[in-house]
Amino acid sequence: MLNLKGKTVMVTGAAGGIGAETARILAGLGARLVLCDRADCSALADTLRADGAEVITDAFDIRDRHRAEQFVTDQPRLDAVVANAGFCPWDDWHDPDWDDTFDDVIDINLKGVINVMRPALDRMMSQGHGKAVLVASVAGRMGGLKASPHYVAAKGGVISMTRWMAGKAAPHGVNVNAVAPGATETGMVSGSGIDAVGIPVGRLAAPEEIARPIVFLCSDGASYMSGAVLDVNGGVHVG
Ligand SMILES: NC(=O)c1ccc[n+]([C@@H]2O[C@H](COP(=O)([O-])OP(=O)(O)OC[C@H]3O[C@@H](n4cnc5c(N)ncnc54)[C@H](O)[C@@H]3O)[C@@H](O)[C@H]2O)c1
Repeated sequence: MLNLKGKTVMVTGAAGGIGAETARILAGLGARLVLCDRADCSALADTLRADGAEVITDAFDIRDRHRAEQFVTDQPRLDAVVANAGFCPWDDWHDPDWDDTFDDVIDINLKGVINVMRPALDRMMSQGHGKAVLVASVAGRMGGLKASPHYVAAKGGVISMTRWMAGKAAPHGVNVNAVAPGATETGMVSGSGIDAVGIPVGRLAAPEEIARPIVFLCSDGASYMSGAVLDVNGGVHVG
């Protein structure tokens, strides 16, 4: 069920954190990987190749619609996409330059997902099969633990887009779902002051604990799932 041999899976935001863990697990299950990030993914790619994986990487900003479309179009094969790249500044909406930050957060977390998913969905719908996993957040489900409202709005948008894309793609054999992580030990939360208080399991997630459900949604195990948002948050939100 979880065998991904011969499948090509694209992961955005793959240079670190949840994206890198997702890539490692996918590689272990036999997937061919297409990794992108605005940071360099080549160190991760070299490690995965040393273990026998086939990996393509590229570095570009997900806000660049043209580059994102070109990257998707250039791939000879595409069976699944994990739209994971994200950005979460821990600021205050009273900050003087907050409106500029708002635009950046929406452009990366919401429009960046659209920049990748528009060509990827067209491609997978026309071939009649595919899986898409959008990485949302507990912030988009219940307002988050400490996130600022730009991020909450962007991730709420990702959840709405999951439903919209799922309805569009399901009749064409493509499953679109989301994972909504709670606080996870990655670079994103450093400096946030988030701790385990208020998290029923008593700790933050390890990145692989978010990556595993993402990988499941890339697999045939999720063949009848469409428009689902998996809460992976240690019990913070039960929806
Ligand atoms: N860490 C958490 O607590 C948490 C909680 C809920 C949701 N998430 C979501 O999980 C996803 C992965 O985050 P993470 O925790 O691994 O953080 P991370 O910072 O380790 O990884 C995010 C990746 O996205 C890349 N990225 C950021 N902006 C980009 C851009 N403009 N173009 C291309 N790549 C860009 C970064 O370079 C980075 O490699 C994000 O969508 C994040 O919002 C994280």
